[in-house]
Amino acid sequence: MRDPKRVGILISGRGSNMRALVDKANGYEVALVASNKPDAAGIQWAQTRGLRTWAKDSKGIGKEQFDRELSDVLDEHRIGTIALAGFMRILSPWFVNHWSGRILNIHPSLLPKYRGLDTHNRAIEAGDAVSGCSVHIVTEELDAGEVLGQSEVAIGPNETPASLEARVLAAEHELYPRILREFVQR
Ligand code: GRF
Repeated sequence: MRDPKRVGILISGRGSNMRALVDKANGYEVALVASNKPDAAGIQWAQTRGLRTWAKDSKGIGKEQFDRELSDVLDEHRIGTIALAGFMRILSPWFVNHWSGRILNIHPSLLPKYRGLDTHNRAIEAGDAVSGCSVHIVTEELDAGEVLGQSEVAIGPNETPASLEARVLAAEHELYPRILREFVQR
């Protein structure tokens, strides 16, 4: 039985959003941290925190084959909500349909602006006065599902992509746990 309050977090790298979701868990439980990169720094951190982890290198494995295996692991842990947190892999249509409406992602822009990569550079280049981050439902179309919540971050006159990224990341760490809590309770 899938329990919406049992959250599985998928990461590929440092996992700072994952850490925020763990440290600020309220109304949900992080029941599994999974990765397609066994050497992801976030996996080591999760292990030292005593969390359940699963990691398998996705290289050389068919996309849907990997996703079916991942899905079985999520089911074994009775996960009901999936939070992508820097998971640098496009999920297969099979996985997105199988978990339809149950996958969230955090994206470093005010969607629908700047889907995809390089968001901070694009916002500065466009002369935007404000950027930010969005938590949205994952659908088959990249960064295009329903937006559940956003935080705005002002862009200063001497802003660089790195300085903007740091401030947006801090905003992500506040927004994601709050929206996840609201989502699992709705
Ligand atoms: C963040 O910028 C997030 O918005 C994007 O990927 C990055 C993940 O960073 N989806 P971290 O691994 O959570 O530190």
